[in-house]
Amino acid sequence: MSSPIRVVVTGAAGQIAYSLLYQIAKGDVFGADQPVILHLLDIPPMMEVLGGVVMEIIDLALPLVTEIVPTADPTVAFKDVEAAFLVGAMPRQQGMERKDLLSANVKIFKVQGEALDKYAKKTVKVLVVGNPANTNALVCSRYAPSIPRENFTAMTRLDQNRGRAQIAERLKVNVGQVKNVIIWGNHSATQVPDANSATVDLGSGPVPVTGALKNDEWLKGEFITTVQKRGAAVIAARKMSSAVSAAKAAGDHMHDIWHGTAPGQFVSMGVLSDGSYGAPKDVVFSFPVTIENKEWKIVQGLQVADYHKPLLEATGKELLEEKAEAIEVCEH
Ligand code: NAI
Repeated sequence: MSSPIRVVVTGAAGQIAYSLLYQIAKGDVFGADQPVILHLLDIPPMMEVLGGVVMEIIDLALPLVTEIVPTADPTVAFKDVEAAFLVGAMPRQQGMERKDLLSANVKIFKVQGEALDKYAKKTVKVLVVGNPANTNALVCSRYAPSIPRENFTAMTRLDQNRGRAQIAERLKVNVGQVKNVIIWGNHSATQVPDANSATVDLGSGPVPVTGALKNDEWLKGEFITTVQKRGAAVIAARKMSSAVSAAKAAGDHMHDIWHGTAPGQFVSMGVLSDGSYGAPKDVVFSFPVTIENKEWKIVQGLQVADYHKPLLEATGKELLEEKAEAIEVCEH
């Protein structure tokens, strides 16, 4: 057994955390032999609810959890953490656009960036889930100058999982056979789901999804809009935003940061843009990445179809607008 690592989950009394904590506690994220000390942050009015969550974690009777630290104090929550899931934020409600959330939420991430800077380990890996996730990750890193900016990533893994699932359903194969679906850009309705580099294993090794599907019209149209609007469809049906699927995606994302990507596979995540594929620089843009030794690298040399190019431009433009609004909110 390794020595325990401190892991913080913010929004710990909320619905995503409710599923995420179980995955972390049973070893799905950091490994079956990695004990964890769970730091659970939420706001003061949620402390009673958080107490109930703590009782349930205790009742899981999972030996990897060596200690639980519930708190409303960021200085306690971020102390010496090696991994941070920043989930806590105001969730999008029915009819609400993500932009409406921006001003309310970026300030939370400014404060948490400052707390990470002061109290977390300098090697901390920070995954931002709370929306607008890409811009929140950017804001958080700007206010944590002593932590490498590459350590801050934003979640588009749920979109990637949705894309894989749509393709598997269409091809009538198991979702495990579909790999390398890309999400470009922002985790918003402008995101660009792209299956042109994706593969499917039909029994004799991976082949391109495009060839197996033979349905470019679907890939250009319905596939993209279904994935883009899936979050809104779940809200319309459940009257609450995606929770168990979001938690699973957050676990997948941090798992891959911790353990690396499998040979020949890449995953999508919002990372600090270096301008690859014509994306604007210095925004958190979702790219296909490979991960080794807890460091990500943008996959280079993939073909971007002509019909995707204006979409990539539009999602990049939205991120620049969000960044400008966020800076305005944070600096005034
Ligand atoms: P929820 O409302 O059930 O839980 C949010 C929790 O955060 C609440 O307990 C709230 O008290 C807490 N919170 C609010 N401000 C906080 C602060 N300053 N510090 C600590 N905790 C704070 O919401 P849910 O469903 O768990 O969603 C959380 C976030 O994740 C939302 O912003 C949602 O839009 C986002 N989300 C992102 C996805 C992605 O793919 N990136 C997918 C699904 C949801």
